[in-house]
Amino acid sequence: MSLRGDKKLEQYLIENFEWFHRHPELSYEEVQTTERIRGILTDVGIEILDYPLGTGLVAVVRGRKEPADGRGSVTALRCDIDGLPVTEESGVPYASAYEGKMHACGHDFHITVGIGAAILLQEQCEELCGTVKFLFQPGEEESHGAMKILKAGAVDDVERIWGFHADPTNRVWVAGIREGYVTAAVDRFVIRVHGVGCHGAHPDDGIDPILVSSAIVQGLHSIVGRNVNAFHPAVLSVTRLQAGATWNVIPPTAEMEGTVRTMNREDRVLYERRVRETAERIAAAYGAQAEVEWVAGPPATYNDEAMARLCKDVAHEQGMETVPEESSMGGDDFSYYEDKDMLGREVPGCYIKIGVGVGHPIHHPAFCVDESAILPAAEYLAAVMLAEKSD
Ligand code: NI
Repeated sequence: MSLRGDKKLEQYLIENFEWFHRHPELSYEEVQTTERIRGILTDVGIEILDYPLGTGLVAVVRGRKEPADGRGSVTALRCDIDGLPVTEESGVPYASAYEGKMHACGHDFHITVGIGAAILLQEQCEELCGTVKFLFQPGEEESHGAMKILKAGAVDDVERIWGFHADPTNRVWVAGIREGYVTAAVDRFVIRVHGVGCHGAHPDDGIDPILVSSAIVQGLHSIVGRNVNAFHPAVLSVTRLQAGATWNVIPPTAEMEGTVRTMNREDRVLYERRVRETAERIAAAYGAQAEVEWVAGPPATYNDEAMARLCKDVAHEQGMETVPEESSMGGDDFSYYEDKDMLGREVPGCYIKIGVGVGHPIHHPAFCVDESAILPAAEYLAAVMLAEKSD
């Protein structure tokens, strides 16, 4: 069955995009979304692989062209599928039907573009060497959906991994491509400070965890300026600090949490050590105790130079404009696919940004995608897959 036919594929993709936009589901709850993807791919004759995933699925397009080396390589395109707990204010006619849930990160665009690229590649499978897997991944917003795909064994045979993200800072037909680090490692910390509660009029009877916490916050902010190489990007933010319940009681405990973003592996290790030392030793200096919990998230995403160059070349062949992408202190669990700790080998990857029209940023309640970006993005990604596997 061929859906390729000028306007026909575009209309088909836009109708599906609007359905996905109207029915956003949160991380690991993407049941309807998965069924819809399965239905569409089955309809167009694309093979779905049987991996044990609760939500999300893996589809495959197998090339029919004889590879020069006698073996076709396996590559994968990651398309994340989950929505966010955001109440939509975009005003689009196909706005979310679910109160408090929205595709505010453009993952509906990712699903639709992934489907479009799979359809286009299937139609060109005579020109394709090797295999392309399409990873419709759940739970990206929870930072660990990629782990589900990895644990299911779906990327055990994958040699290169591609990813993309809707980019509301660029016009349609513009791709942001960068070589090297593109997103940061995402770590979280929680610090519980144990002091001694007392009357607000008699602080000498207790140990004030609020004062201790204030000193810890100051100390934590010195790590980036005093311990990290000035040429290495790094950020620490304390994002929650809670203590006490009233005006005349010094509480016994305080709690804070925050995030550390780094690009280099060594800086990540350094940060964890310095956060622990800073919190514990400052607390000790005040006679209090600090307990530090460190929750490691995805590592930094690194774009393989050759893959990034190929993306640029194909974009230019397609008449697409490319701009150098700034690296971001945001994170993406796409990096797990590249991480050698996961598969025991290096998997080169490339993560690109695709312009969806300039507008509100991702995660904003008024974020929206210009639908005219869908077909060109699908064509572009299909062309990238084909270019890398045609020799
Ligand atoms: Ni996203």
